[in-house]
Amino acid sequence: MAEELILDTTLTKAEKYRQLLPQIEALTAGEPDLTANLANTAAALRQAFGFFWVGFYLVKGEELVLGPFQGPIACTRIRLGKGVCGASWAQARTLLVPDVEQFPGHIACSSESKSEIVVPIIRDGRVVAVLDVDSDLLNDFDYDDQQALEQLMPLMASWF
Ligand code: SME
Repeated sequence: MAEELILDTTLTKAEKYRQLLPQIEALTAGEPDLTANLANTAAALRQAFGFFWVGFYLVKGEELVLGPFQGPIACTRIRLGKGVCGASWAQARTLLVPDVEQFPGHIACSSESKSEIVVPIIRDGRVVAVLDVDSDLLNDFDYDDQQALEQLMPLMASWF
């Protein structure tokens, strides 16, 4: 495992993702522990982009339960269909929210969070967790984020 991430700050966001994704793969290769891999993935994403909050909620019964994350403390449980995370779980698709205030039922873990992207992690046709990334800037996520995070999804699913 590499000790440090290589992050070229002069790159565009899409290029940064292209530089980062193989490093996340290398960082988690050969490590069978789910918590270790989710924790390092959250840390790598936050370190690379400086997002306000990056973390995972894991499906446990009828709820999502907070998993490894980087950032301020967060809500621990989210019910199916509730908030952006619960909606992404229920719909089994990525939700990109440019302004969280405009999202009906958004769960404000922090008033500083302004925009958000949630990518479901799907294993054998079932959502097993969601990756939630929050920004303190409005409209901070676009198709580049969606594409890159969805590209990461099969790797993340393989840890479950
Ligand atoms: N805003 C999320 C809740 C999780 S926190 O942002 C970390 C939601 O509406 O599901």
